[in-house]
Amino acid sequence: MQYPYEMENKIVLITGAGSGIGRATAKGFAELGASVILADRNLGAVEQVKNELASINTSIQTVEVDVSNPKSIEQMFSFVEMKYGRLDACVTCAGVISKTKLIELDLEEWNRVMAVNLTGTFLSIQGAYKLMLPNKSGSIVAIASDTAKRGGGRIGTAAYGASKGGVLALVKSIAREMAGSGIRINTICPGPAATEMHHELQPELVAQLAAGIPLGRFANPAEIANAIIFLCSDAASYFYGESMNVDGGVIME
Ligand SMILES: NC(=O)c1ccc[n+]([C@@H]2O[C@H](COP(=O)([O-])OP(=O)(O)OC[C@H]3O[C@@H](n4cnc5c(N)ncnc54)[C@H](OP(=O)(O)O)[C@@H]3O)[C@@H](O)[C@H]2O)c1
Repeated sequence: MQYPYEMENKIVLITGAGSGIGRATAKGFAELGASVILADRNLGAVEQVKNELASINTSIQTVEVDVSNPKSIEQMFSFVEMKYGRLDACVTCAGVISKTKLIELDLEEWNRVMAVNLTGTFLSIQGAYKLMLPNKSGSIVAIASDTAKRGGGRIGTAAYGASKGGVLALVKSIAREMAGSGIRINTICPGPAATEMHHELQPELVAQLAAGIPLGRFANPAEIANAIIFLCSDAASYFYGESMNVDGGVIME
């Protein structure tokens, strides 16, 4: 393992790659020379990311996926299999936020969040696992949230927090089940990051939230991407079933 961060010749699939943390992760992998498949429900967004990265990496594919739809997930993995015949890393960034107070949280909103954040993550992990099994190697990184460990704020994140807590438990259970398969799986728990997910937050609220973070600011998406790429690399060969906080000191456990 001379160059443990080596990414050339690696096939990497990123869901939610059209924006925020997924887009930053795509950029990082592209700079390291990986073959990157950018998946998102917004095909135009991933096409734009591909165009932005064209000068540094020409091995980029895009695919439209709705991770809450099993058929769509199946098509995404068929595309990867047809194109490359294998998968080395999978990052499940696709996610939606919900800011709905408990009193107004109806089943439709609850199901919408669960379908993308929890079921979508489960289906993505399952598809990646199937593609990685023949080679008995690969790394899967699921994106949860600090909310999974500490609960959300007062803005009404019950559904979101529950979906992300589910991701943590899902990954721990899968990690035990897939032990010995040669495939690693870990979770990243980002703290607040400056992405489109928070585009509607008023500056006063951002300042208030930032004041509660020991590092005093939201993360740049690239700072989360760095940890994701590390977990996908051979440098993280002994990380397994871990839930890594990348949160400016919010959780500290
Ligand atoms: N930003 C934070 O503070 C923060 C903190 C902790 C955890 N996270 C987690 O990190 C991940 C990335 O978040 P982000 O901040 O980068 O958010 P983002 O900028 O909104 O990016 C999420 C991407 O996922 C896409 N997406 C949503 N639903 C999808 C679906 N059903 N199928 C496929 N793609 C879908 C979004 O498309 P649309 O634009 O069309 O919705 C968007 O392109 C999420 O899982 C989020 O929960 C974020």
